[in-house]
Amino acid sequence: MADIGLIGLGTMGSALALNMAEKGNDVAVWNRTRARTDEFLAEAGDLASKLSAPEGLDDFVNSIRSPRAIVVMVKAGAPAQAVMDSLKPYLDAGDILIDAGNADFNDTRSTEAALKAEGFDFMGIGVSGGEEGARHGPSIMAGGSVAAWERLAPILKSIAAKFEDQPCAAHIGSDGAGHFVKTVHNGIEYADMQMIAEVYGLMRHMNGMSPAGIGAQFEAWNSGALASYLVEITGQVLQADDPETGKPMVDVILDSAGQKGTGRWTVIEALKLGQSANVIEAAVGARGWSAARDLRAMGAEMLGSDVAVAPVDLEDLAAALLSARILAYAQGFTLIGAASDEFNWSVDRAEVAEIWRAGCIIRSALLDTIAGATRAGLPGDALYLADGLREPLLAGLPALRRIVGAAVAAGFPVPALSGAVAYLDTMRQPRGTADLIQAQRDFFGAHGFGRVDAEGQHHGPWGS
Ligand SMILES: NC(=O)c1ccc[n+]([C@@H]2O[C@H](COP(=O)([O-])OP(=O)(O)OC[C@H]3O[C@@H](n4cnc5c(N)ncnc54)[C@H](OP(=O)(O)O)[C@@H]3O)[C@@H](O)[C@H]2O)c1
Repeated sequence: MADIGLIGLGTMGSALALNMAEKGNDVAVWNRTRARTDEFLAEAGDLASKLSAPEGLDDFVNSIRSPRAIVVMVKAGAPAQAVMDSLKPYLDAGDILIDAGNADFNDTRSTEAALKAEGFDFMGIGVSGGEEGARHGPSIMAGGSVAAWERLAPILKSIAAKFEDQPCAAHIGSDGAGHFVKTVHNGIEYADMQMIAEVYGLMRHMNGMSPAGIGAQFEAWNSGALASYLVEITGQVLQADDPETGKPMVDVILDSAGQKGTGRWTVIEALKLGQSANVIEAAVGARGWSAARDLRAMGAEMLGSDVAVAPVDLEDLAAALLSARILAYAQGFTLIGAASDEFNWSVDRAEVAEIWRAGCIIRSALLDTIAGATRAGLPGDALYLADGLREPLLAGLPALRRIVGAAVAAGFPVPALSGAVAYLDTMRQPRGTADLIQAQRDFFGAHGFGRVDAEGQHHGPWGS
């Protein structure tokens, strides 16, 4: 009998199935379009002996050992729901359905509740690392019951990326915890990518460096404190040429970024939880603005687009990027903490940092420091205050301020880097300016305010 079933042999599903088979698991697969299944089996080579592909959905389900565990790896939302609904007639009580796509954790919570009411178990699993990760070792964030995790853990740990022999797969918490943490992972990914793009833009426009020269700089940075998958691939991308034109590859790519929703969800959930992940929001917003190409061209024509050229210091750029990266991670960690409290997940954020150290897109040298600092306990529950992070943050702060100042003065947009400075400056201001906001609210809406020298709610002398 198969150890596990997998439905959806697209990019991620086929890579995951091959990974599972390679690690010694017997995998039953099924795909809506049979031709794709046949193609997949034909390409599986030696691994085909660990794969089975019954034609009918009933035979597929019956070929899996009990309690059955079936991974659904199709587009999140309605398609994943439709697949799960079609499986139900063949399932027994206690069988486990697993949505491994990028689902909205709110959907994961409601799907789990609905399936539980019908006697089935459910896991929502975040899988990071793209196709390469899925095939050779992703980072896996699982949400669901302990019983379901215990059934799945040996398989998921066998296929996960390893950091110093530790599998990057963990049970994050109940119901939507895994998909929430995957969503925030992607939010941090958006922020890091945007900040890297801003640093690239400054080197290009202020310093007049070529893409290949900037790529070489990122490659050099990748052996220091900025070491990370995203800095590494940035170095490679910028040094690549277009085979058709011979131009730098980035120069033939439209400056209009796509997005599928996880960054936006991070920002929405942050606001719902009374937080502001403003660095992540800046990144999501910048992708939206990037799509408005015609309007940007009109703006340049009607408002002018003179960007002053004022070269920036490259060491400043590296230090600024590290400080801002710490703040972006900090916002993600605060958000995970807030959601964990709200939904009673008891998320171990040190473990989250540990399973992000390999396999996933935001893997970086910094995450090992973050894991250690979080394990030791975060002062004020804030990552940026922790020993080991506070020092590089402060060391890079003057550089971050110089870079943002230079960019703003020159007219070059750095929404994520400047958002990071605003966040830090706000979070170390013992007395801010919300006294005036409270006075204004009381003036027009009689909302009342607290006083520094007395308990209770008070009103100002504004008259009626
Ligand atoms: N690509 C990535 O890097 C990545 C990374 C992490 C997470 N994810 C998530 O993983 C999930 C799958 O992504 P992917 O990139 O592997 O997608 P994909 O390559 O487009 O594959 C989609 C698969 O879903 C099946 N499918 C689509 N609609 C269906 C329906 N209504 N009923 C049954 N099967 C249906 C397709 O079957 P047919 O062959 O019949 O069309 C195909 O096997 C998504 O939630 C995605 O967000 C992707």
